[in-house]
Amino acid sequence: LADGPLKGKHVLVTSGPTHEPIDPVRYIANRSSGAQGTAIARSLAALGADVTFVTGPADVAPPLGVKVVAVQTAREMKEAVDAALPADAAVFAAAVADWRVENASGSKMKKDGSGNAPALSFAENPDILAGVSQMTAGRPKLVVGFAAETDDVEANATAKRARKGCDWIVANDVSPETGIMGGSENAVTIISDAGADVWPRLNKEQVAMKIAAKIAEALA
Ligand code: C5P
Repeated sequence: LADGPLKGKHVLVTSGPTHEPIDPVRYIANRSSGAQGTAIARSLAALGADVTFVTGPADVAPPLGVKVVAVQTAREMKEAVDAALPADAAVFAAAVADWRVENASGSKMKKDGSGNAPALSFAENPDILAGVSQMTAGRPKLVVGFAAETDDVEANATAKRARKGCDWIVANDVSPETGIMGGSENAVTIISDAGADVWPRLNKEQVAMKIAAKIAEALA
């Protein structure tokens, strides 16, 4: 482990998308690459933190020097998070599917020749960030959530922070014209007790280093 301001601190990071099965070979997912969460975990480890990295099926490889827990579904991610606690800080960068297929099939669904398509029904997934933020015992000292917004970034992220009960929200504008979703850069606003702090447009590695440094400052 690296020496640094986060030495001796356990930090939990969730990252990537989740995959919600329809049947054993099909799933519902989203376009998260896991790039920002991976960069944050790497930066935290570089500052000396003991990092548990709970990741859905991401496009990028997990960082070296962290404990990787690979999951597929939102419910598996919640179980892995619960098992990894306690932590000094928790960063929820994953793009967790809001819904899972409630009537997923245990065997591969087949066309039956009738021309009828199957009907999927959905159930809401547990909100992992809200659950940890609202823990009454053993809550991490610092809980950080993310908000991907396309409009009114500051107002929506401020409302999300209150709703979830987390300490900080890292909000980013993912409107198509920004090129941020799936791109290498990010423009974030950090919402905390201190209000909204608008950061300049930086690459995702630089955003990660600034977030890790801010976490080190908060835990010091
Ligand atoms: O509600 P929304 O999905 O916009 O919130 C985003 C934040 O909540 C992210 O930090 C994400 O990791 C977290 N989240 C979660 N579990 C869910 C949904 C979102 O931890 N089921």
